[in-house]
Amino acid sequence: MVFKFYGHSCFSLEVSGKTLLFDPFIRGNELAKDIDIQLVQADYILVSHGHEDHTGDLVFLAEKTKALVIASWEICSWLQKQGITNCHPLNIGGKKVFEFGKVTMTFAAHSSSLGDGTYAGIAAGFMLEAEGKTVYYSGDTGINSDMKLLGDRYSIDCALLPIGGNFTMDAEDAALAANYLKCDKVIGLHYDTFGYIVVNQEEAMKMFRERNVELNLVKIGGTTVI
Ligand code: NI
Ligand code: MN
Repeated sequence: MVFKFYGHSCFSLEVSGKTLLFDPFIRGNELAKDIDIQLVQADYILVSHGHEDHTGDLVFLAEKTKALVIASWEICSWLQKQGITNCHPLNIGGKKVFEFGKVTMTFAAHSSSLGDGTYAGIAAGFMLEAEGKTVYYSGDTGINSDMKLLGDRYSIDCALLPIGGNFTMDAEDAALAANYLKCDKVIGLHYDTFGYIVVNQEEAMKMFRERNVELNLVKIGGTTVI
């Protein structure tokens, strides 16, 4: 599975020959100015919650790529009103097998509304089981004890977690979350984009090392194999 980072919490995974794009937010991210949005591809777009820093380029990319959007019922309903009808709604704990693998929507301790104020359902994350691997993307969330349940329920190979603090877990909590998840490989997301979430990367690395978890901070535009 190849992970490609588009900045903030926007990334793609190449899975079973399909491109899964998560939380599209590129043009509003000064740090991602070298990404050409016209070149971003997707067969599926997975959306964790409604906030602008996760949906800023959702309508544009859903239109351009014709990808199937996987999101909460409320976000799917809002998309219909924007003319995007190729959607699959999920809610917390719900699972669906797609052609690339299985997706389960997971709980996130966060809020969720769209840029125009529309209620977007409950914030979520995704558990992906595909190619014999299990990958967890928490979405925006604080650390919470449900992560222990996920650690018991799944054998997680890699977790994609926010580390920026202020609106989500910081690196210290995300490292503990990785222990709750029984996962020793984390890719950090949701840091440095805005003043509120600037991270000292050396310190973040140290906090993960102390908990025997590998933290990978991928360069924007860069890739890594999961
Ligand atoms: Ni958010
Ligand atoms: Mn966010």
